[in-house]
Amino acid sequence: MIRFDYNYFMDEHIGTQHGLSQNDIDGIRPEFNEVLKRMDDEKAEGLLGFLEIPFNTSLVKDIQSFRQHTDWCDTIALIGIGGSALGPQALKNALADIYWNELPDEKRGKRCKVYFFDNVDPIEMNSLLDIINIPTTLFLVISKSGGTTETNANFAILLDTIKKNTRDYKKHIVTITDPAKGIMRQITREEGFTSFPIPANVGGRFSVLTAVGLVMAEFIGIDINGLLHGAAEVIDRYYGKEVWSNAPLLNAAFHYCFDVKKNKRINVLMPYTRKLFLFADWFRQLWAESLGKRFDIYGNEVMVGLTPVAALGTVDQHSQLQLYLEGPNDKVITFLKLQDFGTDITIPEFYKGKAELDYLSGKSLRKLNGFEEQATELVLKEASRPNASIILPELDERSAGQLIMFLEMQTAYAGYLYNINPYDQPAVEQGKRFTFGLLHRPGYDEYEQKFKSGYQKKENYIL
Ligand code: PA5
Repeated sequence: MIRFDYNYFMDEHIGTQHGLSQNDIDGIRPEFNEVLKRMDDEKAEGLLGFLEIPFNTSLVKDIQSFRQHTDWCDTIALIGIGGSALGPQALKNALADIYWNELPDEKRGKRCKVYFFDNVDPIEMNSLLDIINIPTTLFLVISKSGGTTETNANFAILLDTIKKNTRDYKKHIVTITDPAKGIMRQITREEGFTSFPIPANVGGRFSVLTAVGLVMAEFIGIDINGLLHGAAEVIDRYYGKEVWSNAPLLNAAFHYCFDVKKNKRINVLMPYTRKLFLFADWFRQLWAESLGKRFDIYGNEVMVGLTPVAALGTVDQHSQLQLYLEGPNDKVITFLKLQDFGTDITIPEFYKGKAELDYLSGKSLRKLNGFEEQATELVLKEASRPNASIILPELDERSAGQLIMFLEMQTAYAGYLYNINPYDQPAVEQGKRFTFGLLHRPGYDEYEQKFKSGYQKKENYIL
């Protein structure tokens, strides 16, 4: 089971000016009762689908049986953005080989290669089109709402390409969208595309363990039952528990207290393996969109939010660490530590007799990684910089599922501590309206006008 080590959050280790005490956490006990009650209430109302997904095994069977009928395909291309792309990217990176697509077929066990169309970028699109063999590619078009501009623009281009390069374009498309609503569901019905639902009560950034992540995962040989099992274990272990027995709630509470009591609003998530780096990227969206809110649930203007930063050990020891150690003490750092890498390499003898190099000989990369991570914890501690670790015993489906659910529950709890709604993203809608206006989408004329009057720049401020 993953574990949460919060030693260096505590004042007894990093001092009272920057550290927190047990009393600081206990001091917000009434809030915890509210938080746990709100989660119970919302769950009872059926609003918290992310807590139900791990127990839905029928979806797994549907996905597995679908894959058995698609032996013609050697490539998956995923079209989506935000919560409809970041989770699958994190899963692929963590649970398949980092250079999966470059592996020879036998090493991939003849499983599919995977590519992602998750941006509006003609350079990237053309580069991907240069390497993807359309006739043997299955396209997963993923959008909860069905109405996302970026996804639909990419889908339009790719659909046209698929039609020009295949005999039966419908065979090449799977949609993953809301079970009932939205234009993608409508098109799916009209075209008869194969489709999997994203439950109505699961928001985009909480959807990685739905078909959003699981379909791609199944096609690259990830044990999707194992993922769900891991996630379920975290719910079983922590759901409803009081704060000192509930690690996701405790970590949310620490972050909340570091903000309101110690003025630290930058949260760094720093895995010590590249395999988990895209988890940090996935978490960036989860944390930022969920917690960055102008109004609380009572309508008061609060403008809260904690800025997530993704860093990578050991790489960022040579890039960010100087800032984390001597710059403003406004960050809370969480390491993702992997105990068993499942592989190791011993550093061979290297210019024997030269003291500057000799010390490396015979040590392993795993050991070096561990020492560097511990040294980083220590120097941060000595500089009174709060840091904690989420420890994964190994990197498999079970611990990845646990990590996902841990961070999702932590995010939800943090939102409740701030009394905000962690499941919406009202502000990003306004930018979308302006884009629709500029694209002359019917019904958005006023936004084109508003854009023209608002988007004014003076030439003399541009050098
Ligand atoms: O978390 C969210 O809801 C958003 O970030 C969405 O994932 C993102 O905007 C993509 O939306 P959709 O899946 O509807 O295309």
